[in-house]
Amino acid sequence: MKRVEFFVAVLILAVCAGALWLSRPVAAAEPPNTPRAASDSNDGALFTAFVPVLRHPRCMNCHSKGDYPRQGDDSHRHTMDIRRGPAGFGVTAAKCSTCHQDHNLGNVHLPPGAPAWHLPSPSMPMIWEGLTDAQLCQSLKDPKQNQGRNLDQLVEHLTEDKLVAWGWNPGPGRTPVPIPHDEFSAKVKVWQAAGAPCPSR
Ligand code: HEC
Ligand code: HEC
Repeated sequence: MKRVEFFVAVLILAVCAGALWLSRPVAAAEPPNTPRAASDSNDGALFTAFVPVLRHPRCMNCHSKGDYPRQGDDSHRHTMDIRRGPAGFGVTAAKCSTCHQDHNLGNVHLPPGAPAWHLPSPSMPMIWEGLTDAQLCQSLKDPKQNQGRNLDQLVEHLTEDKLVAWGWNPGPGRTPVPIPHDEFSAKVKVWQAAGAPCPSR
C-alpha cells in the first residue's frame, strides 16, 4: 500500500468511527415509545414488552387453569376450597363477595378487593396459563375468548379497568406487577398503534 492510500484509508476509518460515535447519543435520545413504522408492524416484541405484567401472579391467580382462583406469589390453590362456580362468582356457600369487597382490606392476609372481584365464567374462562406469548396475544385479541371486545375495548380494559388496575395496588403483603402503570399503558398503546402485532411463537 502506498503512503497516500494508507492515509486515505485511515481517514475513512476515522470518519466512520466518528459517525458511529455521534449516532449513539442521537439514537438514545429518541423517545422510547414512538410507534414504529408500518414496515416493522410484524414486531412481536411490542407485545412481549408488556407481557411480564400479564404473566405475573397478580394477574395469573385469576387467569390460570383449574376451576379455582389462586393465591400468593407461588400461585397456590385458594384456601377454603373456593371455586369458580357457574358464573365465576363462586359457589352458593362461598361467593367471592362474601369476603372480597371493592377495595383491599387494610392488613396482611385479609382479602384484597376491587370492583367486580370474580373469576371469568366457565364458558369463557380466559385461561392464559400454558399459552406461548403468540397464543396469549391471539387469545386476547379473539372476541370469542375475550368477551367480544374489539382492539380499542381490549386496550381500554388493559389500561383502565379497575380489577386490572388492582395489580398495581394489591394491598399489604403482596408484590405489585412489574413495570409502572403509565409505562405499561404507553407500551400497550404503542402495540395498538402498530396494529397489535403478535409474536410468531
Ligand atoms: C380477581 C380476579 C382477576 C384478577 C386478579 C385479574 N383478572 Fe383479568 N379478568 C377477570 C375476569 C372475571 C375477567 C372477565 C370479565 C371481563 O371480561 O370483564 C377478566 C378479563 C380480563 C381480560 C379480557 C379477557 C382476555 O383474556 O382478553 C384481560 C385482558 C384481563 N382480564 C387482564 C388482566 C390483567 C392484565 C390482570 C393483572 C394486572 C388481571 N386481568 C387480573 C378476573 C381477574
Ligand atoms: C371465605 C372468604 C373468601 C372467599 C369466599 C373468597 N376469597 Fe379470595 N381470598 C380470601 C382471603 C382471606 C385472601 C387473602 C389471603 C392472603 O393474603 O393470605 C384471598 C385471596 C384471593 C386472591 C389472591 C390474590 C393474590 O394475587 O395473592 C385471589 C385471586 C382471590 N382471593 C380470588 C377469589 C375469588 C375469585 C373468589 C370467588 C370465586 C374468592 N377469592 C372467594 C378470602 C376469600
